[in-house]
Amino acid sequence: MLGPEPGSPHRWAGGRPPLVLGIDTSCDDTGVGLARAGEVLANVVESQTALHARFGGVMPELASREHLEVIDEVLQRALEQAGVGLADLDAVAATRGPGLVGALLVGLNYGKALAWGLRVPFVPVHHLEGHIAAAGGAEPPFVALLASGGHTALFAVHAWGQVEELGRSRDDAAGEAFDKVARLLGLGYPGGAALAKLAEEGDDHAVPMPVPMKGDKGLEFSFSGLKTAVALLVEKNPDLRPADVAASFERVVVGSLVSVTLRALLRTGMPKLVVAGGVAANARLRREFAAAGVDVAFPPPALTTDNGAMIALAGGLRLASGRLPDAPFSADAEPYLPLVGA
Ligand code: KG4
Ligand code: ZN
Repeated sequence: MLGPEPGSPHRWAGGRPPLVLGIDTSCDDTGVGLARAGEVLANVVESQTALHARFGGVMPELASREHLEVIDEVLQRALEQAGVGLADLDAVAATRGPGLVGALLVGLNYGKALAWGLRVPFVPVHHLEGHIAAAGGAEPPFVALLASGGHTALFAVHAWGQVEELGRSRDDAAGEAFDKVARLLGLGYPGGAALAKLAEEGDDHAVPMPVPMKGDKGLEFSFSGLKTAVALLVEKNPDLRPADVAASFERVVVGSLVSVTLRALLRTGMPKLVVAGGVAANARLRREFAAAGVDVAFPPPALTTDNGAMIALAGGLRLASGRLPDAPFSADAEPYLPLVGA
């Protein structure tokens, strides 16, 4: 036991909004960012994509070691970008889950040590709350659609820290489906962005695709059947134009994300939508929500994929709301941390 916790949780009492440092090492990117009052002052992400690319996926042990290797330098670059020093920090926030446990431990412990040394509050943050906060801190209540490489789910956010899950994917995440189909088309990993780019040149009705959860009136998603159907189609019809496959696949995935989300807005009666996670970068998804006339907020493109600035934003919102855990320095890394109740 470390004794009484310095900067124990409290409503932020300082005169001005706190300068918060945010750290995310949940997967294969080392992210450190700075934010004050909802404004991002620095966002530095050291990507490990090249390191893992030859394995076709993330190697957990390699990821943890690489985080440890680069985190000091990433922090220095973030401080320089914001033009501040360590002594200026009012709080430190770090992702505690979900994610790869070894990778999470690096950023979480680094953040705790930094906060402890500086005698400032430490705020453990849920990774998905970070993704949601990246959309500019829309005032709850709102529905949040989270679509990343690891998660696809809908939440009703009643207040910061008061979240209800409405539905999720029964199998693959939307980003995972994008990545798997991208690999089939030889676009590398992670291939969501490359697939979306290729889709721009394709005919989105050229290739027949099964509609996920057809006829279902619930708030769940399913993408693994679609992915398997695409694999079979490509195998049986090697002459299909990759751009047409990409465009047809994208039309169906985006169609499913949009229709289930519109149903969630209707059911909850909530007036606003926040779309977050890596797939929120998808241009077709943005267009279709805008066309549906929904009051929708997206993160700026630089904040859609994993980064530290979104953790700093979420940490700032938590400090302002006063909803903080009792013993933040004792918070453990949680690989399967649910958002509800976090
Ligand atoms: O949120 P994120 O950085 O990582 C997780 O926490 O999972 O999301 C990464 C995912 C990947 O699956 C990637 O292929 C996908 O987001 N992605 C996209 C686009 N850009 C990134 N998917 C569709 N269209 C895009 N433009
Ligand atoms: Zn993420």
